This record gives sequence, structure tokens and C-alpha cells, in this order.
Amino acid sequence: MKNGKYQVAIVGAGGIARWAHMPGWQKQDDVEILAVADPDWETAQKFAADFNIPHVFTEYQKIAEMDQVDIVDVCAPNSVHCPASVSALLSGKHVLCEKPLAVKSSEVIEMITAANQTGKKLMCAQHQRFRKESRVVKDLIDDGVFGEIYFAQAQALRRRSVPARPTFIKKELSGGGPLLDIGVHILDLTYWFMGCPKVASVKGVTFTKLAKREDVHGLWGEWDRQAYDVEDFAAGFIRFTNGTAISLSCSFLANITVIEDFSTILYGTQAGIHWPNGKLATEKNGVLQDIELHIPQHPEVRPHAEEIRVFLECVRENKPVPVKPEESLEVIKMLEGIYQSAETGQEVIFAPAG
Ligand SMILES: NC(=O)c1ccc[n+]([C@@H]2O[C@H](COP(=O)([O-])OP(=O)(O)OC[C@H]3O[C@@H](n4cnc5c(N)ncnc54)[C@H](O)[C@@H]3O)[C@@H](O)[C@H]2O)c1
Repeated sequence: MKNGKYQVAIVGAGGIARWAHMPGWQKQDDVEILAVADPDWETAQKFAADFNIPHVFTEYQKIAEMDQVDIVDVCAPNSVHCPASVSALLSGKHVLCEKPLAVKSSEVIEMITAANQTGKKLMCAQHQRFRKESRVVKDLIDDGVFGEIYFAQAQALRRRSVPARPTFIKKELSGGGPLLDIGVHILDLTYWFMGCPKVASVKGVTFTKLAKREDVHGLWGEWDRQAYDVEDFAAGFIRFTNGTAISLSCSFLANITVIEDFSTILYGTQAGIHWPNGKLATEKNGVLQDIELHIPQHPEVRPHAEEIRVFLECVRENKPVPVKPEESLEVIKMLEGIYQSAETGQEVIFAPAG
């Protein structure tokens, strides 16, 4: 800390750092952004100039050498999450890391080990958990409104929206396609709603049927068809040791009748709900009831900023982080299991199902 302020360094000066993380850090009175690292020197310099950041590097390793840095915020492509986080943790910094926490479970284990060794905080930036709709549904779950939630149907389906940057379409940077990019969001949220049970087994399929075609166009611009080497559709079926299950489907380019379906449906013994639309189905005294939740929105509270506020509070008060790295590890095991199952055609078994 310097002058009573936490010193933060940003790794990766791209889109998410600029439009989501910086506004979050800027809302905090006891934070200064001390450094930024990005191998693209022009991007790094422009970011530093725009946000008045004194130290600019092309290598994230330089941040590890800065004793003054308290917190590293990793906003680089997925394949950089593990090495950049481990470097920061082992040099005594707390780490907030974009999703997915890493591209392989072995990497997540390495990150958790580094955090445990140094006693520093590590949290994955699963901002969907910090949406108002998510907090409301979670509170209802904790109040027992749904009874036992035994099944969930989660989808992160886009019709024609490929994020056209190499960060998302080149496996060496992203580690995977929509499954790792948007599937991780809805799976993490659904898994959290279901109480984070241990994964028992995973079955999955992946397809690349549309992304390589020249006649399929994107609403977010065109992508390099040659460079695109990840799936454009993935689906999985996940069973947990407590007997519950999740079915998951995700795509950048699905032929569906809406632009996007980013949702999860929770099936409970007492009630069910569609997130995020808040339509709840239940029964009382033999009468079926459909209830629509009207969730007040506070536009000034953005989920990314809220996630940063809560993470900082955990650092300040030395509290456990709300997105536990062990939960992220289970999520990455599920995603990795879907890829593995898609490749082998076999179910991947982690533990006996309940
Ligand atoms: N939570 C969300 O809603 C959300 C949304 C978009 C992206 N993301 C995540 O944020 C991360 C970055 O995505 P983006 O949209 O900002 O991508 P981007 O392509 O806009 O930016 C990535 C930046 O990282 C830089 N980079 C590449 N290698 C690096 C390295 N070794 N060290 C430091 N920087 C490096 C690139 O030069 C680029 O400037 C990804 O992990 C992505 O999954 C999250």
C-alpha cells in the first residue's frame, strides 16, 4: 500500500480491462492503478495514457518484480491466466482473474497451490454471480423456496455472435470456443445456484459446423475463418455425487430464433424458476401458481464493478472470497470433461454418482 491506497496492476489492456474492470477500480477510494502490462506496446501505452498509469510493461513478469503492487487483475487471454496469476501470487500479490480461471484443471490446481503457499487471495471474475437477478434467486434458494433443486438446464446460445478477436477464436489463446468463453459463465452460475456439489461424471459433444463457412456472417463483425480452430457449439451432461445434474449447451452460431438465449432453468421439488426472467412455477394447496418476480434494477451497480468491490473488501478485511477457487476448479473440470468426452466418445468419470 502507498499513501493508504491499494496498488493495483492490470495484465492485459484489452476490451474487458477497459470497459468493465477499470470503471470498477475507479469507483474505489482506496485504490491506485500503478502498472499495466500488455505485449502490444501501443495498446499498453494508450491504456496507460487514458487512465494515467505510471508504469507500462510489455511483460507481465515485470509486475512480479514490483514490491509496491498489492493486487494483480488478470484480463489477458485465457491461456495467460495461469502463468500470470501464479507469477503474481508467488511474488505476494492478491489476484483477481478473468474467466475461465484457467484452461485446464491442472493449471487451476497450480494457481490454488500458489495462493495457499503465500496466503494471498485468488478469485475468478465470475461477474454473473454479482447480478441483482442472481443474488435474488440465490436468496430464494437459501430460503428453501425451491426445495431440492435436482436438475438444471443451462444455455449460453448466440445466434450469430462470434467474438471476432484472436483471444476467442484461436485455441492457443482461448483454450476453447463458446464452451470456455460463455459456457463457463452460465455453468458457474447454475453450479453456484445448485450449492456447488462435487462433479461425478461428464458426457459431451462439440461441433464446428458453421464457423468455417464463408456464407455465415456475424453480427459482431467477421472473423478469420482460417484461424478459427475452436468449436462453435458444445453440449454436456454433468452428474454430481449428490445425484443432481446439469445439462449445458453453448454456441456462438446456433440456428435459434432469438439473438441470444443466456439462461438457466432450475427444477426444484417445491418450485422451479427461469433465470434471469424471474418466472417462478410452484403449487400451493393443490393449485398451480405462476409468479413473476419484479427485480429492482440499480443501473449504477454494474456486476463487474460489484465483483471488484467485493473482492477488494475481502482483501481489506482478510475474508474468504465469494467465488472460491475450489468451485472454479470443479467448473473447469466439467468443461475439460466435456472436451475430453467429445474427443473420446466416452463418459468421463470423476467420482461415483449419488
Ligand atoms: N466477464 C466477461 O464478461 C468477459 C467479457 C469479455 C472477455 N472476458 C475475458 O477477459 C479476458 C480478455 O478478454 P478481452 O475481451 O479483453 O480480450 P481482448 O482481445 O480485447 O484483450 C486481450 C488483451 O490481452 C493482451 N495480451 C495478450 N497476451 C498477453 C500477455 N501475455 N500478457 C498481458 N496481456 C496480454 C492482448 O494484447 C490484448 O490487448 C479473456 O480471458 C476473456 O475470457 C470476460
